[in-house]
Amino acid sequence: MSVFEDIYVELRSDNRTPSPSQLEKNHKCAAADRHSEAADIVDSLMKNRFSCRYYLPKPVPKDLIEEIIDAARYAPSGNNMQPWEKVYCISGDILKAISAEMVEAHKEHPEAYSAQYHYYPPGPIPEAYALRRQDFGKRFYSAIHIDRTDLKARAAASTRNYEFFGAPVAFVFTINQALTQGSWMDVGYFLQSMIIAARARGLETISQVSTAKFSGSICRSAITRW
Ligand SMILES: Cc1cc2nc3c(=O)[nH]c(=O)nc-3n(C[C@H](O)[C@H](O)[C@H](O)COP(=O)(O)O)c2cc1C
Repeated sequence: MSVFEDIYVELRSDNRTPSPSQLEKNHKCAAADRHSEAADIVDSLMKNRFSCRYYLPKPVPKDLIEEIIDAARYAPSGNNMQPWEKVYCISGDILKAISAEMVEAHKEHPEAYSAQYHYYPPGPIPEAYALRRQDFGKRFYSAIHIDRTDLKARAAASTRNYEFFGAPVAFVFTINQALTQGSWMDVGYFLQSMIIAARARGLETISQVSTAKFSGSICRSAITRW
């Protein structure tokens, strides 16, 4: 199966009651001290997280993905609104088709697409953050041996975003357009929970805003076409 449509239905469930075995584990964790194994493991999962840009072409079983989402949906949210109800999980042929369309659009007419939201302010950003962004650019391109003035090589490197860096599974997260910053923050808690739950199962991830400009068109049309 390429699009796990049933996954996001589950997300809206009110069934958040932990099983007896989950509760037992939870009590053990709650009773643990700062030098406990639980603290070590959780800290290590968070501290050793990184944005993975190379993936093995190994399929990820659907039940593993469901487990990750099931853990993440316990994330807190203002008034328990859980505004992460639609999460599309894409793999296989549909992932390849979406990637191919995005790569072509990125190469041929990138100006024809725009994200439905501003990730960064449309105007100048405060200097401290502008400097950090520059610093990231320098480090990033030097790590992949690309001269920052080599625009062709930079464009080729950025194309990998639209191939999802070779990841076998991609998620597209959506939020109701009427919801505002608070709910977006809630979704952030959900996303980080997914990242940590994935790491705990041996899977690395990368968050991507670059693909957002295609989400309203290419992703939606591909998902409904299948
Ligand atoms: C919301 C969000 C969007 C991001 N978008 C991209 C992206 O489009 N392409 C990319 O290569 N990295 C992207 N990143 C990864 C960041 O560059 C990365 O998290 C940051 O440089 C810190 O590196 P680390 O995650 O390896 O610690 C994104 C990260 C976040 C949280």
